[in-house]
Amino acid sequence: MKPHIFLIMAMSLDGKITTRDNQGPRFTSRADKIRLGQIRSQADAILVGAGTIIADDPTFTPSKLNREQRLQRGMAANPIKIVVSGTGRVPETAQMFHSKDAPALVFTTERISPNRMERLQCVADAVYVVGETQVDFQRAVKILAEEYAVKQLLIEGGGQINFALFEAGLIDDVYLTLCPKIIGGRDVPTVVEGEGFDFLNIVDLELRNHDVVDGEIFLHYRVHRD
Ligand SMILES: NC(=O)c1ccc[n+]([C@@H]2O[C@H](COP(=O)([O-])OP(=O)(O)OC[C@H]3O[C@@H](n4cnc5c(N)ncnc54)[C@H](OP(=O)(O)O)[C@@H]3O)[C@@H](O)[C@H]2O)c1
Repeated sequence: MKPHIFLIMAMSLDGKITTRDNQGPRFTSRADKIRLGQIRSQADAILVGAGTIIADDPTFTPSKLNREQRLQRGMAANPIKIVVSGTGRVPETAQMFHSKDAPALVFTTERISPNRMERLQCVADAVYVVGETQVDFQRAVKILAEEYAVKQLLIEGGGQINFALFEAGLIDDVYLTLCPKIIGGRDVPTVVEGEGFDFLNIVDLELRNHDVVDGEIFLHYRVHRD
């Protein structure tokens, strides 16, 4: 069965997810970071793009409180860590490969060089080639469900990965934090990048919940299925 796939992102009022000097989502509040921790604590696995690993080098390690909540729910203490990189350019020094608190997986394509493949195989628990030039997310999700029993898969960006997953029709829920900031910059990524959708293929969502905390708006949307 397909896992439930949910996406979480924080953005400025003008839709930006980082700053011109590439400081990542540091522009959010403490309340947002707590919410992120709570939503992460529901995930069996967390998936990001190579760009996010290179820019932010996340550890994916939950707080002590979130780990306890996970254990109480019968989940593993730490989520499985996944990076998608068509070329395999993600550095083998990335923290996700070295905390050894949960499996670290790579999904890549036939574009990966033998050298990059060998280097990533040394640090990752598994490297899957699922696609010729682009990762086939239907195949990736099937592997996660069947081989790792993933039922709740959290997507944490960035913009290119988010587009690929919307395009594949795999996102079920979206958690967005709207921060009262303007960042600008034509080259600064937004929540969804990629090729974009034509008018007829726009993704429709339904608002399920909203909260306002100190000027930030926490939004929960469900994706409409045809
Ligand atoms: N505000 C937030 O909540 C938040 C959250 C996460 C990240 N961020 C920010 O987002 C920025 C990164 O976003 P981004 O859009 O530049 O990068 P990204 O989506 O994190 O990663 C892009 C890379 O992922 C791989 N990829 C994407 N789709 C693929 C597909 N279908 N098949 C194979 N590979 C695929 C490619 O890697 P290869 O080039 O190796 O093929 C591509 O270059 C960072 O600045 C980060 O700080 C913000």
